[in-house]
Amino acid sequence: MTMLLGIIGDPIAHSLSPIMQNRALEAAGLDATYLPYHVRSPELKAFIEDVHQQNMTGFNVTVPHKVSIMKYLDEVDEEAHQIGAVNTVLYHEGRLSGYNTDARGYCRSLQEEARFSAKDKAICILGAGGAARAVAYGLLTAGATNVMIANRTAEKAEALVQSFAHDYPHRITHIPWEPKTLGENFGKCDLLINTTTVGLDGTRFDRLPLAQLPGTALVSDLVYSPRETPLLREAKEAGFSTHEGLGMLLYQGAESFRIWTGIEPDIKVMRKALEEALEK
Ligand code: ATR
Repeated sequence: MTMLLGIIGDPIAHSLSPIMQNRALEAAGLDATYLPYHVRSPELKAFIEDVHQQNMTGFNVTVPHKVSIMKYLDEVDEEAHQIGAVNTVLYHEGRLSGYNTDARGYCRSLQEEARFSAKDKAICILGAGGAARAVAYGLLTAGATNVMIANRTAEKAEALVQSFAHDYPHRITHIPWEPKTLGENFGKCDLLINTTTVGLDGTRFDRLPLAQLPGTALVSDLVYSPRETPLLREAKEAGFSTHEGLGMLLYQGAESFRIWTGIEPDIKVMRKALEEALEK
């Protein structure tokens, strides 16, 4: 029987996961298909019933269901529980298990593509939404000693910091979203990461004190469309090493693939699928 996989979200039409996962499934010689499912919030419960009925192997979860899916699952692994969101579900022997591959995917991408290990590093994260949370968790568990969160809305940054402060005391702090303080803190950063939606479709930050970063700092952007965001272009022009957002999308997908199939996918095939899709 053909293995059935997919991704749920609203909207879903622009997701690159189907093309990436289908190429990987094909390259692995598996009789499987990965479909996009446009599921609106009130339809989530009905979708879960379909998963049982169609005996799906699993699915990815994207906006806006990463948190609301959790109440329908039989178990949620420690990583997803700590991040507070699920992006991967496995259906096995009638039970639904939730995982989150975003944190591991991001750290693996940093390691493989930028040869950057978070251990003992000082890192500044711009943004305090779901993506920032997964990235912060990944970096803390990978041994980062100073994770600074800066967000336009201070309360959200503070809430993120508080939720990890107990398990990682003195290793995560909130810094004000204001050019002067940002600049002072940038001075001690090994890595600057944009997890906000700024950069999508070419939008830009107006006053980011990039020049304050040490010359050896790496600048990373989670936005992958365009691949070279205004932030990455500016960082490159100023002589910094850069790390693009495509890698996180790629490696979170590779980790999901492994959860469903038990095998390691062909990363090169997946990367090529994404690169081609983003060129269009
Ligand atoms: P995701 O799940 O992708 O992290 P999200 O939870 O909606 O998405 O978070 C979006 C992030 O981008 C937030 O940190 C948001 O800042 P606020 O908390 O102040 O809303 C940030 N963001 C969006 N537009 C922004 C802008 N123009 N300038 C600065 N930050 C912005």
